[in-house]
Amino acid sequence: DVSATGGSGSRDLMQTLKETGKKALVLFGSQTGTAEDYAHKFAKEFQARFGIPTMCGDLADYDYDSLDKIVADVSGFRLVVFFNATYGEGEPTDNAIDFFDYLDNECEDLSGLKFACFGLGNSTYEFYNAAGKKVADILKSKNAELVGELGLGDDGRGTMDEDYLSWKDSLFEVIKGALSLDEKEAEYEASIEVTEVANLTKDSPTVSLGEPDAKYVSLQGEAGPFDHTHPFLAPVLKTKDLSPNRHCIHAELDLSGSNMKYLTGDHLAIWPSNPDSKVSKMLSALGLQDRKDAVIKIKLLDPTVHSMIPSPTTYGAVIRHYLEISGPVSRQFIGSIVQFAPDEETKQRAKEIAEDKVLFQKRIIDQGFNIADALLALSNGSEWSTVPFAFIIESIPHIQPRYYSISSSALSDRNTVHVTVMVEANEVAGTDRLTTGVASNLLFDIELAQNKIADIEPFENYNLEGPRGKFHNYRLPVHVRRSTFKLPSNPNTPIIMVGPGTGVAPFRGFIREKVRQVENGEKSTGEIVLFYGCRKSTEDFLYKEEWPEYSKKLGDRFKFITAFSREADKKVYVQHKMLEHKKELADLLDKGAFFYVCGDASKMARDVQKALIKVVAQEKKVPEDDAAEMVKQLKIQNRYQEDVW
Ligand code: 2AM
Repeated sequence: DVSATGGSGSRDLMQTLKETGKKALVLFGSQTGTAEDYAHKFAKEFQARFGIPTMCGDLADYDYDSLDKIVADVSGFRLVVFFNATYGEGEPTDNAIDFFDYLDNECEDLSGLKFACFGLGNSTYEFYNAAGKKVADILKSKNAELVGELGLGDDGRGTMDEDYLSWKDSLFEVIKGALSLDEKEAEYEASIEVTEVANLTKDSPTVSLGEPDAKYVSLQGEAGPFDHTHPFLAPVLKTKDLSPNRHCIHAELDLSGSNMKYLTGDHLAIWPSNPDSKVSKMLSALGLQDRKDAVIKIKLLDPTVHSMIPSPTTYGAVIRHYLEISGPVSRQFIGSIVQFAPDEETKQRAKEIAEDKVLFQKRIIDQGFNIADALLALSNGSEWSTVPFAFIIESIPHIQPRYYSISSSALSDRNTVHVTVMVEANEVAGTDRLTTGVASNLLFDIELAQNKIADIEPFENYNLEGPRGKFHNYRLPVHVRRSTFKLPSNPNTPIIMVGPGTGVAPFRGFIREKVRQVENGEKSTGEIVLFYGCRKSTEDFLYKEEWPEYSKKLGDRFKFITAFSREADKKVYVQHKMLEHKKELADLLDKGAFFYVCGDASKMARDVQKALIKVVAQEKKVPEDDAAEMVKQLKIQNRYQEDVW
């Protein structure tokens, strides 16, 4: 049986469109899967509402040298729609890099091509939606025609979903005119087919239960390269809870034998699976609890559709390992599942909520509901056994890896990689429910199991043994993502680091690197200043015992400055400490220091930037506007680097 991993396989865009008869194209540049998810939903809805065969693809999967000929050569071609997320400091996502290269260097005249574009960004970052804006600007400059408005989704205000829905609704209105299309009643058309296989059981060796061997090790069996499509199954060597009352997990993973290298300051992606309680609730919501081990075959009906889900597999495995069932539900999902409601009353209730964003916020989002919670609340507890499983696979986003700043140094920790992960378990205001992070709680569970800690209850339970006992030695699927957050190449250059909370992670890596340089005989190490903040020195002080060790090795050139926010009547934050040390900071900047910030993007990183502007203004005795310009110059020179989330 072929696996469900599909795709036409050709990188030739024109050939693919011609062979598959597609007349519209939706392409995504996605880092964490959100843009991909919107792109798929858009493609499906566009096809269903306008009856135009539409292909949805990853920007990295095609070459674009035929883009300028599509309108002439693909008869009846209508529209190309881009979904572009912006990553880091205005950069395109990894999978969009080659496409941006094409835009910058090779793109020819695109007269006649109609396109639409939705950018996914975060307004708390400086280069808000840079990737989406750039796509639109360049295509327009090549005479392509932008249909509707450029969509700008804002994660910073938490309005991504609503931004998408209003962009899409107005675009569909415009499309009717601009493309002279008639809308029909949208009906679900499956692009995959799910059938139960009676003669196989979950114990048959050909049936994938989501075990790492099938899912995480390259299907061809070769060792790597390990990347965002093929993670490496890394043994977890050691874990430690750095903050027993708040739970922050330090984990060390073994990369030996993987050929996978990281650089100090890079990110580690961890691929989680879902916890037991969420899996069973989802199975119950769909009326599949009794059939969770039934074997199913997944067939792709559309050659341009890709799927990471192997086949044959089981309902339970799909839900545990491949579907993102923990996060918040989208209003669009409720809107699309209405058609399969188990009874008329549920249908009306779901419809009402899907059409009213205030009501949706109140009844679903404010309740902290995930998909299963929402479905069961809408149906008053009845099962939604009426929903085709193909629809579930197509409509629920697939689990994406979680990225963490690496907290070890490639120089001193060559074969292991360390991460520092706060366990996410947040009370939903006004309820007794918790929302829990998928990967952080998995690490928490591993920590409790591996260190045989029996007196602490985890927030979630995971199947650490794996379906066939293959998770033994606590292995986690991971890959490395390159980042631009890097130490100065000259070890003599002073560095100033600001990292409260788990924002200290990459700086632990930087300092371990410095320690190793000194141990290796490096004499000319510049000054190292680290501002670290947490609530209390007795509570959530991460790596508390390590800092004195590093100080011993680095001597006077290392200054470790702490801000404990909850030890005095007034909050003390890292930025307050920066102002206390303003003279020293200004002197170091004069000496060419690099300045680094890691941690919370929405408030902390902004406050720290403001504090640095104050430091410069006061010490240089210049107006704040001039100081702001000087700080901006630091960013342009890459001497002010951020790793924020
Ligand atoms: P708080 O929770 O007491 O407000 C790590 O989370 C540390 O960062 C905590 O001490 C937290 O303090 C602090 N923190 C919260 N908001 C901050 C901000 N805007 N700037 C700097 N530090 C902040």
